Amino acid sequence: MIGQRTDLLDPDKIKANLNTKHIGGKILVYHSTSSTNDIAAEYAKNKLNDGLVVFAEEQTAGRGRTGNKWFSGRADSILCSIVLIENNINAELLSLTCAVAVAETIGKAGKSRAKIKWPNDIMLNGKKVAGILLESKSLPIADSGLRDLKSKIYIVGIGINCHQKAESLPAELRKTATSIDAESHSICDRVLLAKRLLSCIDHWIEAARKNNRQIIDRWRELSIQLGHRISVLFNGNKFFGHCIGIDPEKGLILRLDTGAVRMFDAAHTSVIKSTE
Ligand code: BTN
Repeated sequence: MIGQRTDLLDPDKIKANLNTKHIGGKILVYHSTSSTNDIAAEYAKNKLNDGLVVFAEEQTAGRGRTGNKWFSGRADSILCSIVLIENNINAELLSLTCAVAVAETIGKAGKSRAKIKWPNDIMLNGKKVAGILLESKSLPIADSGLRDLKSKIYIVGIGINCHQKAESLPAELRKTATSIDAESHSICDRVLLAKRLLSCIDHWIEAARKNNRQIIDRWRELSIQLGHRISVLFNGNKFFGHCIGIDPEKGLILRLDTGAVRMFDAAHTSVIKSTE
């Protein structure tokens, strides 16, 4: 099966005419690995690897947010991790930035518009088509001469469902997950998608460095929840309210049913459902 695919990921094909400033100077493609985030974290120890991207055709231990597993069959997804070293964007803003970039990438590939479910699930027709796992580490700066000088590195892990059919998804995910092909009733080209993804990420990270307002505005346009009544789980407690905004550092802003306005940060909150 895999041999018949014409869209197998190939670093040279992804790099050809890739118009990026920062992302994708080095591109690696693994046939199979545990998790691309782990490989990228190893490369991140060398600051010359800023912008490096690791792709894999298969992961044996793919991770999702909040301790979940990330399932994918061989050669049916985009599974990649990007190393960001010299980066002065905070984690919350970076998470929103990547969500905007992935939604735009998928929106261009599919026939329907991809939307963002806070903090960074990407949805097509109400089902999850992609997810982002942002991991960070503080590493000593090797050549600084100062023992305590550390630089913060980010690993942005992105999983996009491309060729999955409903029946190939784990039973418990069929109602909530989908793929680009399933929603567009066609077969997407993963090499093209990978190129688009890297140029969208490059574009939006550059934009975030200059002006975070631009990210928030675009996030608002793509949000599935803004203006809707939703319920969230925060530290084990349920809250109900209208989503009235997003703060790049503090997270989701809800006007609770009690009338109080409250922020919910991504690290401790999950959206249970849109109730409207
Ligand atoms: C989520 O839970 O929504 C985030 C999913 C992130 C999955 C990607 S696949 C590539 C990278 N490697 C991993 O182990 N996870 C991320």
